[in-house]
Amino acid sequence: MKVAALIPAAGSGTRLGLGPKAFVEVAGRSLLGRSAAALAPHVDEVLVALPAGLTLPRDVPARAVTGGETRQASVLALLRATDADVVLVHDAARPFLPGAVAGAVIAAAREVGAATAALPVADTLVRAGPGGDWGTLTPREGLWAVQTPQGFRRDLLLAAHGAALADGFAATDDAGLIARTGGAVRLVPGDARLFKVTTPGDLALAQALAPVWDE
Ligand code: C5P
Repeated sequence: MKVAALIPAAGSGTRLGLGPKAFVEVAGRSLLGRSAAALAPHVDEVLVALPAGLTLPRDVPARAVTGGETRQASVLALLRATDADVVLVHDAARPFLPGAVAGAVIAAAREVGAATAALPVADTLVRAGPGGDWGTLTPREGLWAVQTPQGFRRDLLLAAHGAALADGFAATDDAGLIARTGGAVRLVPGDARLFKVTTPGDLALAQALAPVWDE
């Protein structure tokens, strides 16, 4: 059984404001380089979707394809570029990936067909009212925040992407596309360190964590 890691890394990083986000460095190593190195021991090949015109840095052990306008389009381009039986989709923007989580997601994907790392929500949740103030309290019991990596049988994910494309449906992740077609998705306990580097505040957190992580 062949397993491929697919890394969508074609985002522009608008909210961070430092150019293409995957190339932003934390303690001397790019987010993409960190994500690819964390995935490589668990898979047979690593594929990366890059913004058009950019090439892979030498220290990233992977094969590159050109990404799309959206994350969903970038993942579809990656799916079409591999013949692996199982794929592990992981955001370049989540550089701190514990090996145990990658292994558990692959195992669950093999068993169920689809699986994602996720964490039970710890904060109180509220939907804001029209003026932006406190609106409706949402009970957090049973709610999970979805992370990556997400693992899939490639044929299932290709079919889910095809259906979404045909319907013009957009999702922010891949497990959501499987669930939309009625497929089961196993929730695998993720890790707080798998946060996505999105804002300058996240980058500050990543810079604080990197020296400890790299030890
Ligand atoms: O924008 P966001 O932080 O949600 O992006 C999540 C991941 O998807 C990032 O690793 C980003 O590089 C990737 N992405 C992509 N192609 C796009 C937009 C985002 O590969 N068009």
